[in-house]
This record gives sequence, C-alpha cells and structure tokens, in this order.
Amino acid sequence: MSDLVSFDVTNPLFKANPHDFYTGLRESGPAHLVHLPGYGDVWLVTGYAEARAALADPNLSKDPANVPASLQNAMVEAGERDGFQLMAHMLNSDPPDHTRLRKLVVRTFTARRVRELRPRIQEITDALLDEVVAKGSADLMDDLAFPLPITVICELLGVPAEDRDDFRRWTSILVSEDEALRPQLQDTFAQLNAYLTDLVRHKHVAPDDGLLSALVSVAEDGDSLDDDEVVWMAFLLLVAGHETTENLIGNGMLALLSNPEQLAALRADESLLPSAVEEMLRFEGPVETTTWRFTTGPVEIGAVTIPADQTVVVVLASANRDPSRFADPGRFDISREDNQHVAFGHGIHYCLGAPLARLEGQIAIASVLRRLPDVQLAVDEGDLAWRLGIVMRGLHHLPVRFTPGE
Ligand code: HEM
Repeated sequence: MSDLVSFDVTNPLFKANPHDFYTGLRESGPAHLVHLPGYGDVWLVTGYAEARAALADPNLSKDPANVPASLQNAMVEAGERDGFQLMAHMLNSDPPDHTRLRKLVVRTFTARRVRELRPRIQEITDALLDEVVAKGSADLMDDLAFPLPITVICELLGVPAEDRDDFRRWTSILVSEDEALRPQLQDTFAQLNAYLTDLVRHKHVAPDDGLLSALVSVAEDGDSLDDDEVVWMAFLLLVAGHETTENLIGNGMLALLSNPEQLAALRADESLLPSAVEEMLRFEGPVETTTWRFTTGPVEIGAVTIPADQTVVVVLASANRDPSRFADPGRFDISREDNQHVAFGHGIHYCLGAPLARLEGQIAIASVLRRLPDVQLAVDEGDLAWRLGIVMRGLHHLPVRFTPGE
C-alpha cells in the first residue's frame, strides 16, 4: 500500500468539497505524486501556469500504447477496457494521428453548424421547461441538464428521432456510477457500437445535412475518414459533449442559486450572460481533472521533474482557482474580467465543442431565469450529492422550487 496522500475521488466527503484539498496541494508545490485508490500512484498538476505548460508539453502522451504497465493492470481489473473498441478516437491519440483526425473534423464541425443549431436548442429547452412549469416543481438535472445536451447531440449527428430513446438509455448506463448497472456496460458498448456502425453505413446511401453525413464525406488533401474512424468520432462527441454540458447547466445554476446577489445582477442585466457562463466554467467547471496523460520522457513542472512512464492528471478545478492568476478565486463573480480559465483544457486537445457548450449553457441558464422567475434551491446546499469519480464534477440532482406561472 502506498504511503502517499490519498486522492479519494470515490469518497462522497472528498467530492463534497475537493477545493480545500487542491488548495493545500497547490500551496505546497506545482506537482504531486498521490495515491488514487484502485489505480495506483498518479501525478497531479495543480497550478495555473503549470497546468497550461503541462498541457502543451509533447512529452505528455494520450496514446494508450504509452499507458504505464501498473495502470494498465488496474484498468483491466476495473473493467475499463470494455469500451476500447470505441476508444480509438482523437482524444486518445498523439500527433501525427491526432493532427490528421482533428483537421478533418474541424472542417465539418464548423462555427456555422453550431450557429444553425441555436433555434433548435431554444426549442428543445422551451419544451423541457414547458413540462417543468406544468409539473410545478423540478429537478434541474433530470428535467433539463440531462435531456438537453443528449437531444442536441442527436440533432447534431443526425440520429433519427425514433432512435433517440435508445441513445439516451445507452448514454445513461455509460455514465452511471450504479454498481448494479456495471454488468450491462459491455453489452451497452456493443449495442452503441453496432448502432453507430449501421447509422454510418446508412449515411452513405441516404446522406442528410447532419454531422455524421459530413464526416462520412469529408476529404482534405486526398485524405478522408474511414467508417470506423467516423464511428469513434461520433462516440467521442457523445461522451465528451454530454455529461460535460449537463454539469455546466447544473453547476452553473447551483452557483447562481447559492449567490443570490449574483443571480439578481444577472436578472437585472442579461448582457452579463456570456461572462456569467465563463465564470460558471471557472468557478465550478464540469471537468475537474483532465483525462490521463502518460510521460514518454521527463517533464519539468516548475521545479519538479516527473520521470518517464508515469501517469499525470492536470487538475483544471485547481488551476481555475489559482490566486496567482485569478483575484479572490473562491468568489463567484459574474462580471469577472480577463477570465482566461482552463475549463476547456489547453493545447492540441482543447475542447472542440466549446462554442456549442457555451451556446447551450447560455440558452439553458437564460431560459430557466425567464421561465422560473423566483426559482430557488429546494434543499440545503450541503445536502446535495456530487457524482463520484475522477474527471467529472457534477451533481446527481438539483431540486428547485418556484411559483408556477401560466
Ligand atoms: C476535449 C471540456 C463540451 C467535444 C475537451 C477537454 C476538456 C473539455 C477539458 C480536454 C480533455 C483533455 O485534454 O484531457 C468540455 C466542457 C464542456 C465540453 C467543460 C461543456 C461545458 C463539449 C461538447 C463537445 C465536446 C458539447 C461536442 C459535442 C470535445 C472533443 C474533445 C474535447 C471532441 C477532444 C478534442 C481533441 O482531442 O482534440 N473538452 N467540453 N466537448 N471536447 Fe469538450
């Protein structure tokens, strides 16, 4: 057993407030070897400048071929290889493969495609909030934050309406922490893989204006994506774009509801919406730590040298509260200026969906404030349960009350 500090992301008490732990680490140095129960020893990078430097360092690899042997064994034991047939996507690749895949996707997932989704995102949000208003009470996670992003991804990809319930069910099994659902994981991956493979084949014969059809036919410099690569990309967009956006809506609404003066300021001046969403991303971002990276050579983090063959995790939640970059970082301030947070990562894997996430976040938050004028938390903040595990930061439920209108 390691005698290192335990980084216990499966402990509800840790997840209730990880920020104090990160502050303590950050104050004692830029990179720390800690023990992650179930996985072994990993390095945490906690400072803002160091996080950006690490995420731009070519000696930090995302390629599963560079997974240290100790972590590989732990992942097999944890059953995390179940989904590997869908995992050969660009977030798990280094240049030149990553450069090639990203270039082809960027051609299709354009600013214009995102802009064109705006009216549909508003319509979907309005329909979900109609149900909330009719019901007279809400769990903003179940009633809005979960269904909105998954429906938007279906629209984006071109998943037919009649298949969306299956799509939603598979996704909720994949992101669940419920041990009882674990035996279903492998089957769920297989079903999703088979479904996406069929759908991609179908887009060859019956193309539409969705992203999958665009990915099937994209070409640049004589290069294109084969069908497996399109399936992996679709899977990546689903996993990367779903729980993240869900947590932006949940964590963002929680930050507003627990800071009434900020909520009042936003109600008084809707032009603060974009900076409010940036502050939500910084203050309680949906992605607490980046995905694993593996050292292929020594990596300098400030005065610390991380040797080769180690696992490194960059703690975005800590970098975003580093007082050397953000004044009074524990304060939620929707008018904060120069808010260059790292909630979307940094470097070559910088979030491809950031414009879509921002758009969905802004529409969801503005619509809740408009439709539920006196919305407030229906429980004490301390009674809210955070989802367990590494990478994501999000709530299970967010019960609110409001006076039902017409
Ligand atoms: C990558 C955050 C929404 C697609 C990332 C990374 C972060 C991130 C931190 C880098 C991970 C790493 O380096 O380990 C977020 C947040 C979101 C969000 C906070 C919501 C608020 C989305 C959406 C999509 C998306 C809506 C698309 C539908 C991607 C993709 C990558 C990525 C494709 C991989 C990029 C690459 O490997 O080059 N995201 N994301 N994300 N994100 Fe997002």
